[in-house]
Amino acid sequence: MTGLHQYTTYLESQISGLKLVDEPRNLFVPLDYFLSLGGKRLRPILTVISGEIFNIPKEESIHAALCIELFHNFSLIHDDIMDEAPVRRGKPTVHTKWNSNVALLSGDAMFIEGYKQLANYSDHRLALLLRRFNETTIEVCQGQQLDMDFEKLETVSEPEYIEMIRLKTSVLLGCALEFGAILGNRDEGIRRNIYQFGVSLGIAFQIQDDILDLYGNPEIFGKQVGGDILSNKKTLLFLKAKELAKTHSDDRFTQLIQMHPDAQKVEYAQVLFEEIGAKKAAQDAMNDYYNQAMENLKHLEANGFRTEALHALAKFLITREL
Ligand code: IPE
Ligand code: IPE
Ligand code: MG
Ligand code: MG
Ligand code: MG
Repeated sequence: MTGLHQYTTYLESQISGLKLVDEPRNLFVPLDYFLSLGGKRLRPILTVISGEIFNIPKEESIHAALCIELFHNFSLIHDDIMDEAPVRRGKPTVHTKWNSNVALLSGDAMFIEGYKQLANYSDHRLALLLRRFNETTIEVCQGQQLDMDFEKLETVSEPEYIEMIRLKTSVLLGCALEFGAILGNRDEGIRRNIYQFGVSLGIAFQIQDDILDLYGNPEIFGKQVGGDILSNKKTLLFLKAKELAKTHSDDRFTQLIQMHPDAQKVEYAQVLFEEIGAKKAAQDAMNDYYNQAMENLKHLEANGFRTEALHALAKFLITREL
């Protein structure tokens, strides 16, 4: 992450400085374990960068940044139970290393640790931070439930899929950025602007996540490749493949959905989705949302705010391999 390295280093040092271990150990050790596995620290970096755009030093935005990262990690611990995921960040998930009860409760504790970070702001900004955090986190739950409901449906429409990923993933990126603007006491117009950039970028980011889930390099990606196919997730790749198969009267898609969920099915999907053009269609959609995010930045630039770091981060995100 050229140019962004300083932010990652700062965040890592702050996260490793969190003192989360207490008794009983089965509640707290998993938190320490999960946070020390790394991760890109994308969301707290967004908060710190946004803070700097609005003249807030990182020492002041750090609590808001940590709040978002702790919530994100909580959501991943629970998401891995829901998705029955064996590995995350190249290591066993909490529910596999311990068990689901441990993962549920230590996830809950992680969420509360996030709120504790927000409580560091005791002035007039706290009410708005809390309001936006509460609105966002309930939306993440809504998105996660839709994601699970969609597993049981034969198909969903593309707008339904986009709305689901907006909720489960994108609004948190938006909120991470808006936190910087709230700390900088910016008006609602500016707040909406940077939030909207985060939402567009977040949609591109989740489409990329779906593509990596099937085509990522297992050595680098850190998650089980093909997990979405095994769980019957309605990813954009899946929806595009279904549509293209219908257009070209290609019965391989019907065969795919009848297959037993195993490694062979994953390989079959990798080949089919590429040959039928679904991978390309998903990449095109990702680029469209990325370009929309770049458009969103223009308003901020017109208002004289410096957005170079956001450009660098956005570019890194859509070329990432993990
Ligand atoms: C994973 O997020 C969950 C999604 C919304 C796709 P990240 O890809 O940011 O996960 P880490 O924190 O870097 O591991
Ligand atoms: C997860 O989406 C979004 C949240 C955790 C809220 P995914 O289920 O696609 O994320 P990964 O692929 O497990 O990281
Ligand atoms: Mg999930
Ligand atoms: Mg998952
Ligand atoms: Mg995924």
